[in-house]
Amino acid sequence: MKFLSGLLLTLLYIVFLPLVIIGTLIQAYAEFVVSRRYGASATAVEIITYRLLLHELRTREDHAAKALAKALPNVSYWGCWLFLIPMIIVNRLFGTVPLVAMPEKGKESLKNFITPRTAFIDRHLMDHIAAVDQVVIMGAGYDTRAYGLLRGADVTIFELDEANTQRLKLAALDRAVIERGDVTYVEVDFDHESWDEKLVQSGFDPSKSTLFLLEGVTNYLEKDAALETLKTVVRIGGPGGRIILDLYDQSMMDSFNSGAARVFKYTNESFKFGLNMAADPELAVAEIIESAGLKCLQIQVFGHKRKNKSAFMAMVLAGPA
Ligand SMILES: C[S@@+](CC[C@H](N)C(=O)[O-])C[C@H]1O[C@@H](n2cnc3c(N)ncnc32)[C@H](O)[C@@H]1O
Repeated sequence: MKFLSGLLLTLLYIVFLPLVIIGTLIQAYAEFVVSRRYGASATAVEIITYRLLLHELRTREDHAAKALAKALPNVSYWGCWLFLIPMIIVNRLFGTVPLVAMPEKGKESLKNFITPRTAFIDRHLMDHIAAVDQVVIMGAGYDTRAYGLLRGADVTIFELDEANTQRLKLAALDRAVIERGDVTYVEVDFDHESWDEKLVQSGFDPSKSTLFLLEGVTNYLEKDAALETLKTVVRIGGPGGRIILDLYDQSMMDSFNSGAARVFKYTNESFKFGLNMAADPELAVAEIIESAGLKCLQIQVFGHKRKNKSAFMAMVLAGPA
């Protein structure tokens, strides 16, 4: 079945190649040229287009992501669709597509890690949501959990991001007529500001139990800012606070910076903070988490069971030590 679906996907990509190329070019223009024009994040576009992919391939429902993708000027919904046609056909025939299928644990790769990363976050978010009063989505980008998965949860939600990206999102939420609910938006720069002060000024209560989500964020921060951010979470997370985050291998990010991901320099984004995961990824993760005064409650290492390859990232659920 896997062989057949893979074969059909390859054949369809050959047949639809002209449309796929047109779709890719339109989307690349939106992602890089338009993002740069607005001074907004292109890496956040990568993630919403992947969520759109998961939604269209019926792997993870996210109607808000689809509506937001249609309204954002730096996403081309139809460009994405042209690229997706072969995958949608295979998905409708076989029920799954290799790119979005859940990989075996430990055998994740750079091609498919967003599916298990998203699943880890959704699962732990829902497991802990009833026990917290506030949720802080840091470097929220075009995350739509506040308008879908978390809709109706009895929590106050804060979304933090750089000004340009957040303003673009807010305008697109309005254009898409997505109900914002009680979400509070705070413009921050984790590298250069005391973001916790701004958060408190915006109505955040440090005495309440809080869940912090950092998805695809620590790797864009300076090392000091990433560490300080984790320490701040301990200080203001309240009793029973939780943090869900991803951490990356430094050598993988160095090769990203000198390889294909150089394209993100166009929007002033580059990969910065990482850990040495080559020898013992769990230990490397535990050391950094504990140095910030946190305790790992769960670690899921990605990619360490691949042949001749080491771990490239880890998902973490942590709480106060
Ligand atoms: C890869 S995107 C992830 C977006 C979102 N978490 C998601 O999963 O959809 C990285 C996000 O981090 C934000 N970011 C990066 N560096 C930042 C900084 N120094 N201060 C505030 N936000 C930052 C970017 O603006 C962008 O929205």
